Amino acid sequence: QRSFIVSSPGKTILFGEHAVVYGATAVAASISLRTYCRIEPSEKPEITIKMRDIETSRSWSLESLPWDAVSAKDIFHPPNTLDVEIVTALEKLLTNEKKNPLAFLSMLCILYLYLQIGFHTQGCIITINSEVPLGAGLGSSATVSVGVATCLLLFFGYIQPPKEGEGWSRQESLALIEGWSFIGECCIQGSPSGIDNAAATHGGLIAFRKSTAKTTAMKQFLKLENPLSVLITDTKQPKSTKELIQRVYRLREESPLVIDSIFQTIDGISRSAIRALETETNVRRLRKTLGELIFINQKMLEALNVSHVTIDRVINATKVIGPTKLTGAGGGGCTVTLRNTDCSNEMFENAITELSALKNSVYDSQLGGPG
Ligand code: MEV
Repeated sequence: QRSFIVSSPGKTILFGEHAVVYGATAVAASISLRTYCRIEPSEKPEITIKMRDIETSRSWSLESLPWDAVSAKDIFHPPNTLDVEIVTALEKLLTNEKKNPLAFLSMLCILYLYLQIGFHTQGCIITINSEVPLGAGLGSSATVSVGVATCLLLFFGYIQPPKEGEGWSRQESLALIEGWSFIGECCIQGSPSGIDNAAATHGGLIAFRKSTAKTTAMKQFLKLENPLSVLITDTKQPKSTKELIQRVYRLREESPLVIDSIFQTIDGISRSAIRALETETNVRRLRKTLGELIFINQKMLEALNVSHVTIDRVINATKVIGPTKLTGAGGGGCTVTLRNTDCSNEMFENAITELSALKNSVYDSQLGGPG
């Protein structure tokens, strides 16, 4: 049994969060921060999970895992919904972990994937290290799902590692990683759209739409003619993606006509951005168009009640740099700012000083790194 180390990128959603859950188009890009996941054989019949960033390490004997709840599985055709019986059995096993939601949900995801992909006779140690701030809207949970799914698929021989110096060449391997990481995301997020794990699997700049009764699925890899750099600000305001998705769900239950028309507007914003990214060759004009769309998208997210006072503060502090919107689920978490072409270094540095004084962390990031 061999050991493997894999890494996957965090993401920023440029346009379309929340609406994407209801079939609207969204645009996401990978960022330079990554999560590293290592799998190695264990000498004991145990699974050990070490999460360095939250200083958590736990082991379970393979015998204690709820194998009874697992029915016949087909690794090469990942399901698109969770098996409730397995989730219930794992929740019972993890009762003592519930006071730390981040650790609880990560363990649920990892053990769920192990039960699906692993053999009950082979123990392993899974170690996770992340540069992506946890639970901040930069897809940290998707990087964990992608890392763990990739490690398990490699460890149990369902996919082969890419050749030295090459990327993953086999589309089927990427499809398997994306499929299983979506199931991992379901353990953590409830009802994700799939955009986060698609971005963490493939990297780059992705236009994404999930399939619904009314819309067909779409995943389009956009080329960036010129590098786009953004400023990502972590407000450090904790939030729960699961709860924010539920908040929007309840709002839509109350006023479906109004909320659906907001989703439609957001869909239009994403499509306009995709058109600009595909056709606009003048960088200044491209930034101007994207900037206007960022402004309108933020207003729509405020209407969906997923913004937050900490986000308003960042928007104010970054006004001189460029347009800012929340990215990911909102409710705190992170924002993304597109730097204006006429923003001087001095203006930029001043804004960073103000943001840091407000206790935010800032990351200067290039969009679209490898998956
Ligand atoms: C979270 O990064 C983005 C949301 O749209 C949820 C999702 O698409 O799964 C809020």
